[in-house]
Amino acid sequence: MSVRIALLNQKGGVGKTSISVNLAYGLALEGGDTLLIDLDPQAHASMIYCDGNPASTINEIFERRDADMGSLVQTAIVDGKPSEPPLWIVPSNIRLAVTAERMITEHYRERRLHTHLQEVKNRYEYILMDCPPNLGVLAVNAIYTADIIMIPITYSRYSLDGTADLLESIALIRDGDFASWLILRNAFDARNRATNAYIENELASVEGHLMETVIRRSEAINQAQIRRLPVVAYDRKSRATRDFEKLTREVQGYVV
Ligand SMILES: Nc1ncnc2c1ncn2[C@@H]1O[C@H](COP(=O)(O)OP(=O)(O)OP(=O)(O)O)[C@@H](O)[C@H]1O
Ligand SMILES: [Mg+2]
Repeated sequence: MSVRIALLNQKGGVGKTSISVNLAYGLALEGGDTLLIDLDPQAHASMIYCDGNPASTINEIFERRDADMGSLVQTAIVDGKPSEPPLWIVPSNIRLAVTAERMITEHYRERRLHTHLQEVKNRYEYILMDCPPNLGVLAVNAIYTADIIMIPITYSRYSLDGTADLLESIALIRDGDFASWLILRNAFDARNRATNAYIENELASVEGHLMETVIRRSEAINQAQIRRLPVVAYDRKSRATRDFEKLTREVQGYVV
């Protein structure tokens, strides 16, 4: 059995990639075979876990119906070496943007990823999907196949703007019966009391869908990204490492 988790928010820069990259590593460290699928043409997750420009990318399943999903999976590279924890990635690259544009007219375009995942999903305990910052065909593919949709938000005045649209899209794509969406608070800074109070108040409307873990704002997350590392490999003692450990445990709890 595998669980498919989409990291989704049409808003840019809220932490989708940071969370995908670090949660994937955390789950792998716990011994769960984990596959990270980069669905973003910006390819930020691929830049962390791949050496150079990958030869094959997730693009292929959207270009060719007979593509072999298994052959697109690569061992994640961590600090120049194949990952010791069981982590794999299906990378992306910028060409995916053109493919997504072309697919707009195709039938069953929203099921492509779901169909191809059938071939490989039993090999992994966790499949994480890092989505682009829009609700285009790539995000729709992730929504269609996800068991859990995790929506990172940050602490700003407009952080929940767009969430209603997002939930409406999810309901439309999943025929209205999808309850497994979760809000994950990211980049929390205890000093910003008034803003935090405002956001917590706004979040009352999504009670019951709030994840318990809050990822604090942490320079280690930026530094790890610059060095192309998961944060635990950059600084095992950072608070970001602790936060992602907590997040990992919470996600494990959802799956049991
Ligand atoms: N908790 C945090 N503390 C400090 N910096 C953070 C935190 N979370 C994310 N960042 C930084 O914010 C920037 C955006 O994060 P990230 O790339 O994960 O967002 P995203 O939602 O994937 O963006 P996009 O929509 O462009 O794909 C990055 O530089 C990242 O290092
Ligand atoms: Mg991203």
